Amino acid sequence: MYIIDQESKTPLHIQLYNEIKKKIINNHTTGNKLHSIRKVSSMYNLSRNTVESAYSQLVAEGYIESYPKSGYVVTDTTRMHENTKQPQIITPTQKSEEYLYDFFPSRMDRSSFPLKIWKRLFTKVIDDTIDYGAFLCGQGELGLRTEIAKYITQFRDVKCQPSQIIITNGFADSMGLVAKIVKNDYQTLAIENPGYHLAQKIFDSFGYKIKKVALDKNGLRLDALKKSQAKLVYLTPSHQYPTGVTIPIAHRLKLLEWAKEENGLIIEDDYHSELKYQTRPIPSLQGLNNDDRVVFLGTFSKLLSPSIRISYMVLPNHLLPSYQQHYDSNIPKVSLMMQKTLEHFMSEGHWEKHVRKTRTLNRRKHNLMKKALIERLQDTMKIESQGGGLAIYINPTVDFDWDLLKQLAQENSIKLYFATQRSGGDWEAIQMGFGGIKESELENAIEAFSKIWEKCIL
Ligand SMILES: Cc1ncc(COP(=O)(O)O)c(C=O)c1O
Repeated sequence: MYIIDQESKTPLHIQLYNEIKKKIINNHTTGNKLHSIRKVSSMYNLSRNTVESAYSQLVAEGYIESYPKSGYVVTDTTRMHENTKQPQIITPTQKSEEYLYDFFPSRMDRSSFPLKIWKRLFTKVIDDTIDYGAFLCGQGELGLRTEIAKYITQFRDVKCQPSQIIITNGFADSMGLVAKIVKNDYQTLAIENPGYHLAQKIFDSFGYKIKKVALDKNGLRLDALKKSQAKLVYLTPSHQYPTGVTIPIAHRLKLLEWAKEENGLIIEDDYHSELKYQTRPIPSLQGLNNDDRVVFLGTFSKLLSPSIRISYMVLPNHLLPSYQQHYDSNIPKVSLMMQKTLEHFMSEGHWEKHVRKTRTLNRRKHNLMKKALIERLQDTMKIESQGGGLAIYINPTVDFDWDLLKQLAQENSIKLYFATQRSGGDWEAIQMGFGGIKESELENAIEAFSKIWEKCIL
C-alpha cells in the first residue's frame, strides 16, 4: 500500500516514486513484479502519466527493470540496502572566539576595506562583464594580470610582462604551484630560520627536503646557505618573517650571484613590502636580477583584504614552458567576479590611492602602539621588530612568567600570538598586531595588555 497525499505540495509522481523506492529498499523484494501502470493508476486514482513518470525514474535509477510481457520487475537491491541510511547531519556549533582585544599580527581593520567603491565595481562587473557560461583563463584574467604587471613594475621595481604572471588564491596556492613546476630541477628547499612556517609545510608535502638556514643582521647567511647545498631558497627579503630584517643591497647582490653560479632559484615572498613606516618601500630583489633566477610572490591580503583571497606570482621566463605544459589548463581558484572587480579597482586608479591610505592609517596605528608600549612597559620591554607590516614584536627584558602571561591574557579576553607558533625555531617574541584593532581602541588595548604584563614580571 502506498501513501499518496493528493493535497501535498510534493508532486504526485514524486510521492509515488518515493513510496515504491522505500518499499523496494526495506523489503528486499528482488524479482517481484510491480503492478501494471494501468492498475496503479486506477488503485490510487492517479493519471497514467503520473505512474509512468514514477516508474521511468525508478528504471533510470536501476531499482526496477522493464521486461516485455512481464512488466516491471524489482532488481537486486540487497547491497543497496546497506548504503541507503541517510547520515544524520550534525551542524557543528561554530566556535566563535570573540576577544575584547585580538592582537593577531596579520589582520586588517574591517572598516579599512573600500566597501563603497568595491560594491559599485562588483555590481558593474556582474551586470555587464561576466559571461556566466564561460570558463576562466587558466593563468588568471589577462586584464588583471596587466594591471598587476603595471603596478609591480612601477612600485616594486619588478621586471615582468603579464604573460609571466599567474593569479593564485594565496601563499599556499602559489608555493604549491612553484613546488610542482620546479620539482624536476630541485629536491631541497632552504628556508630562513626562523621563517614562515607555511613555506616549510607546503614543500614538505611535495616531498622536498628542507634545510633551515640561520640568519644574521643581513638576513639569510650566505655561508650557511652554501653549506646546506640547497639550490632553491625561500626568502622574505624586504621584511624578514618574523624578525623584520631587511636584506641590504650588497647582500641581495651576493644572493643573486650565488643563484647564478649555482643555477639556483630564489623564491622572493614580497608579502607586505608597501607597509614600511620609516623608510620608503625597498625595491624587489627580482628587479635586480637579469638572469631569471627569482620567482616573485605577491598578495592582496595585507593591503586590501585577506578574505578576498587574491595573490599572484611572477615566474621567470625559463619556467613558463614547464608551467604551460603542465598547469596552463588549471582553472584558477579565484572567481571571475573577484578578478574582474580587482582589475577595475586597479585600472580606475583606486588601488594606488588605497595603498597610500592604508599605509598612512597603519603608520599612525604603528606609531600609536609603539608609543603606548614604551610609555606603559618602559624598560621592562624591548622592541625586537618594528617599522613595517601589521605588528610590533616585543620581548620582556626582565625575568618573566610566560605561562602566567598566557593564562592572564585568556582570563582577560586578550588574544596574544607568539613568533615561535608560526615560525618554528627558537626566536621568540610577542607579536603585537595592530592591523585588526581600531585606531580609537589601540590605547585601551595596550592599557589592558600592560596590566597583565606587570603581573608577569618576577
Ligand atoms: C610571510 C607571509 N607570506 C605571505 C603571506 C600571504 O598570505 P596569503 O596571500 O595567503 O594571505 C603571509 C600572510 O600572513 C605571510 O605572513
